[in-house]
Amino acid sequence: MANTDHLVDRLAEAFDTPVFKAISEVADGLGYECYAVGGYVRDIFLRRPSGDIDVVVVGSGVTMAETLARRLGKSAHLSVFKSFGTAQIKWHGLELEFVGARRESYRRDSRKPIVEDGTLEEDQYRRDFTVNALAVCLNGARFGELVDPFDGLLDLQNRLLRTPAPPDITFSDDPLRMMRCVRFATQLKFNIEDEAFEAIRKNAKRIEIVSKERIIDEFNKIMSSSVPSIGLVLLDETGLLDEIFPELKRLQGVETRNGRGHKDNFYHTLQVVDNIARESDNLWLRWAALLHDIAKPQCKRWDNVAGWTFHNHNYIGAKMVPAIFKRLKLPLNEKMKYVQKLVGLHMRPIVLSEDIVTDSAVRRLLFEAGDDIDDLMTLCEADITSRNAERKRRFFANFELVRQKLKEIEQKDHIRNFKLPVDGNDIMRLFGLPQGREVGELRNAVKDAILDGRVPNERQAALGFVISLGEEKGLKRIADVE
Ligand code: CTP
Repeated sequence: MANTDHLVDRLAEAFDTPVFKAISEVADGLGYECYAVGGYVRDIFLRRPSGDIDVVVVGSGVTMAETLARRLGKSAHLSVFKSFGTAQIKWHGLELEFVGARRESYRRDSRKPIVEDGTLEEDQYRRDFTVNALAVCLNGARFGELVDPFDGLLDLQNRLLRTPAPPDITFSDDPLRMMRCVRFATQLKFNIEDEAFEAIRKNAKRIEIVSKERIIDEFNKIMSSSVPSIGLVLLDETGLLDEIFPELKRLQGVETRNGRGHKDNFYHTLQVVDNIARESDNLWLRWAALLHDIAKPQCKRWDNVAGWTFHNHNYIGAKMVPAIFKRLKLPLNEKMKYVQKLVGLHMRPIVLSEDIVTDSAVRRLLFEAGDDIDDLMTLCEADITSRNAERKRRFFANFELVRQKLKEIEQKDHIRNFKLPVDGNDIMRLFGLPQGREVGELRNAVKDAILDGRVPNERQAALGFVISLGEEKGLKRIADVE
């Protein structure tokens, strides 16, 4: 049996704080057994400091919290949730949750348990994973003693996710735990015990009774981890991906014709997401990586000369983003627009770097990407997953050139947050035109001339250009515009 004594030694120091001393005295005074449980205890052993402390009381959690709040004084903020029999105290940046020890049973169609009072061990047994079922006694006589009936500490040492109860029951009772399992496996780089893994495969369809909000919350924790592909592969292997994100699943597979295959876009996407995760913590940039090729299955064509093509997959992909965000209950705000923009533009720097990098093409890219240009470049570099070292080197060298040009042009022309120096109102006043197609055409002509570098990005020069273009078209200037 592996020795876990060195881990147990961490407890004494972790619980030697005023708040635990206060809890201890209050619990002893009330005659309640009282334990710290769950994630807080797990995270002590994993050295992940946390301010969320769950406390189980063999007695009334509410009475315990009320008494403790009085003792902690004015700086403690108490909230009581009578119908749940729980209470929370916020105190100096800590969040303490108090609940009576309980046992639970579930109905098939709901995650909401029928709750009854229980013993500490019954409470631990109904929790999701053994590493989340560790308890530390807070009563004076046994202060700091670990209570671990399901060998959670050993599992923690072996980096194993195992359920205290038979896994089929644990996951069927509360299917959200299947997502939590994959999330913990990704965040903590733990393995899932075989029996638990099989139980998830068996119960994957039951994820449908969980709210979309909770599912996406876990999914985003997977996406925010250091190597998101660990979780995305597990979601796939357990069958959960089919249920929650079929578009991603559809990226899988390789078709070969005349000896020519295309890459597996699912595994390519996973690699791009991992590449991005090494460069940036921005969740939405990671989402752009996840969705950058999402339309490839629809856009796939075979051409006898070119082989496999995926024309327009970037545009179609960008169009798919709102429906995906809506279904998954992701925000439909500027975050979505950002993802949409990056998916739509993700081919541009590559195309640009394959050709001669002209000022005008760079200016147009800057104009369209605006402030998101750096993120777009990061995404495009992450997208280079070729195994051919020479090809890779050439791409990166070209990207370097594009980045350099971007810098030069930005310094010279300030295109990033480009606003046309001449607007539609100016054009209407100059020629006495009503709103309409003619004004739009003149406006686009100035925009193109500036982005092509034929006209400087300045008001007087742009006005001069519009006036001569209008006059060429037979319009008469009727007013001066400053
Ligand atoms: N728990 C559970 N089943 C769930 C959710 C939670 O059994 N579906 C239990 C676990 O014992 C967990 C504790 O409740 O440790 C607290 O849950 P929560 O605060 O959601 O998660 P943590 O485990 O603390 O982890 P994290 O803070 O990373 O979400």
